[in-house]
Amino acid sequence: MIKILNQLYFFILIISLIILWSCKEEPSSPNDQLPSVSERVNSLLSQMSLDEKIGQMTQAERGALQNITDIKTYFLGSLLSGGGSAPSTNSPQAWADMYDYFQYYALQTKLKIPLIYGIDAVHGHNNVFGATIFPHNIGLGCTRNPQLIEQAARVTAEEVSGTGIDWTFAPCIATVRDERWGRTYEGFGETAELSVMMADAMVRGFQGSNLSDYGNILACAKHFLGDGGTQGGDDQGNVIADEQTIRRLHLQGFISAINAGVKSIMISYSSINGQKMHGSKYWITDVLKDELGFKGFVVSDWQGIDQLPGDYKSDIETSINAGIDMVMVPNNYIEFIQYLKELVNENRVSIERIDDAVRRILTVKFELGLFEKPFTDRSLTPNVGSTAHRSVARQCVRESLVLLKNENNFLPLSKNINHILVAGKNGLDIGNQCGGWTISWQGNSGDITTGTTVYQGIKNAVPSSTTVSYSFNGSSTQGADVAVVVVGETPYAEGNGDRNDLSLSSEDITTINNIKNAGIPYVIILISGRPMIITNELADCNAFVAAWLPGTEGQGIADVLFGDYNFTGKLSHSWPRSMNQIPINIGDANYDPLFPYGFGLSY
Ligand code: BGC
Ligand code: BGC
Repeated sequence: MIKILNQLYFFILIISLIILWSCKEEPSSPNDQLPSVSERVNSLLSQMSLDEKIGQMTQAERGALQNITDIKTYFLGSLLSGGGSAPSTNSPQAWADMYDYFQYYALQTKLKIPLIYGIDAVHGHNNVFGATIFPHNIGLGCTRNPQLIEQAARVTAEEVSGTGIDWTFAPCIATVRDERWGRTYEGFGETAELSVMMADAMVRGFQGSNLSDYGNILACAKHFLGDGGTQGGDDQGNVIADEQTIRRLHLQGFISAINAGVKSIMISYSSINGQKMHGSKYWITDVLKDELGFKGFVVSDWQGIDQLPGDYKSDIETSINAGIDMVMVPNNYIEFIQYLKELVNENRVSIERIDDAVRRILTVKFELGLFEKPFTDRSLTPNVGSTAHRSVARQCVRESLVLLKNENNFLPLSKNINHILVAGKNGLDIGNQCGGWTISWQGNSGDITTGTTVYQGIKNAVPSSTTVSYSFNGSSTQGADVAVVVVGETPYAEGNGDRNDLSLSSEDITTINNIKNAGIPYVIILISGRPMIITNELADCNAFVAAWLPGTEGQGIADVLFGDYNFTGKLSHSWPRSMNQIPINIGDANYDPLFPYGFGLSY
């Protein structure tokens, strides 16, 4: 009861503050006299104490706040939600209330500098229950359709804005060279060509042509640099390559993002030739800021600076001097602030470096229009997960599917087959088809959010005279004329997904064998974050579809299975025959994959 009253109290408090805020009078200066962003930044900077400046460079996790008033006590410049870090009621309204509540405290400071709030909206606004979940990037890469991907990012931006949030840690533009990596699905594919094409599309979709316009959010290209090129596909590992190769494979996507106007870039946990990126002045300052002219701000990854050699204070010194502008601390922000202040007072970090960092951060805050519109645009809140948004995701699903085999034109299926059996652990599981970074950091099997499973999509597509049944392991096949066997991976994120064996599980092989032994013709639909080893399973099936991690709009699979739409997807990765072919990438000497990069059949 007390809790409810408390919540009610805060709700009323926030609403009244917002009303007060929106009623305050605007200065009536003629347009040509409005100060420019750089004038506003300089004037603000000249009024700031060292504590206020360091606060701007500090990003804390919302759950790590020891006291809500720490936002104003420490002048925090930014908060984030890590994977799954949601308000206790996970609804768009509750997110917006939470955001406004934090913002209210930031505006209690003397200089009233608003917070910038970041989140991993990496395939739609994926931490929010009921949001539209898009295919992960590996599938989007297969669409080869940048206009569609820009639209997808636009939809995501509007859903994020509807919950108040200003900033997404996306796109991940890793050029992924080794499928053993647990983050393979976060990148668009194995070539710089795809990173370039999709970085441009996504940044434009998130940020629009003018950052301060309705529904636009700040994008963050990540992870700089070489995250997808580590030895053995080790998460947070080491890239061994000469500079020319690194530039050719891994830098091109960032150049594309910068040309598209990206205003933030996240540093990679990984190393290049043994040197941690979080400490690389060469790549961050000399190349990114000086050579490429990046004018936005650089943010570190979650506890990323902590991995630098030396104690924590020296980690801060190294990373800030390397050119990092904002630190995703994200837990012990008080310690971080204290050490950074000491470092400035000891002349180990110059005030010029601090001013440069703060200037970059404030510039983006002004460009985002945060000073004019610090609170949630509530007109966007009801659109989170709307039908219109879901239809864009459904199109992304359709266009991401890659048809690998279609013996004797087995597909498209007729809608008037008597009995269609859907079999396999991924046929009726929204969590599995969404993968990691959905509702929680790692993702989860089961009914984690709202959407359409593969099974439901098929059922919706056929007339009521057609029977559609489901069998988890394919053991109840009675009366079935054809089977749609949906197998593959279950959710994981980051290093938890690193694998040395990408064969299908014995559970999946049993399911497939049950169908095969029953003599029912079948198509296999593989739900996975990367190519898997399917050489044996491919031989016996009638058709095979790589569906990646399609997200909530499983209807897009039925759209293509029954021929309402054609298959257009082209592989974003070379498909290996066996584990000992990995790493395998287009352009290799002796290139002999099961399916080459760019492969994909149509009707
Ligand atoms: C990931 C980033 C992510 C950050 C915040 C890190 O573990 O590497 O990609 O943006 O967490 O959740
Ligand atoms: C957070 C993620 C973050 C990860 C880093 C998790 O607890 O939820 O957002 O990327 O930690 O290891």
